[in-house]
Amino acid sequence: MDESLEQKIKDAIANPKNMGELADADQMGTVGNSDCGEMLRLWVKFKEEHGRKVIDQASFQSFGCETAIAVASMATELIRGKTAEEALALRHDELTGDLGALPPMKIHCAQLVEGALKSALVSDEQKTETESTPENIPSLMDSLNKNAQPAQGRLRILKKEN
Ligand code: FES
Repeated sequence: MDESLEQKIKDAIANPKNMGELADADQMGTVGNSDCGEMLRLWVKFKEEHGRKVIDQASFQSFGCETAIAVASMATELIRGKTAEEALALRHDELTGDLGALPPMKIHCAQLVEGALKSALVSDEQKTETESTPENIPSLMDSLNKNAQPAQGRLRILKKEN
């Protein structure tokens, strides 16, 4: 990874935005990557603005690597003020925001964020799983315990600072 990208990721991690559960979220989505064992959950809350339903706030919780956390931090800022359709149109290489292009071995980290966003933004009718509302979803820790054993030293439990 080039030094400037590494520095940008360090900076994003030092002051991550929108980290932790969004208690009054309207929708949420969770994805995991079975190859690296990372998981990411994303919450969104909408508001009406000029007759449009736009994203008011988004937050995330992650057992992901630093790159995934940095991208999630960027992405949750980027999607504010966008409609669900506009946010869904953003590709993983756009969700990286100021981080810019990621090296090939880190692209899946941004795809993890893209997947969580898609999972959070598809309508309940489009979801194939029954667990589509925040109330019905097990905690990320429950999901992690059921689905994956993270490598030692890589488990990150992140709570939103108020
Ligand atoms: Fe797998 Fe970043 S999400 S290494």
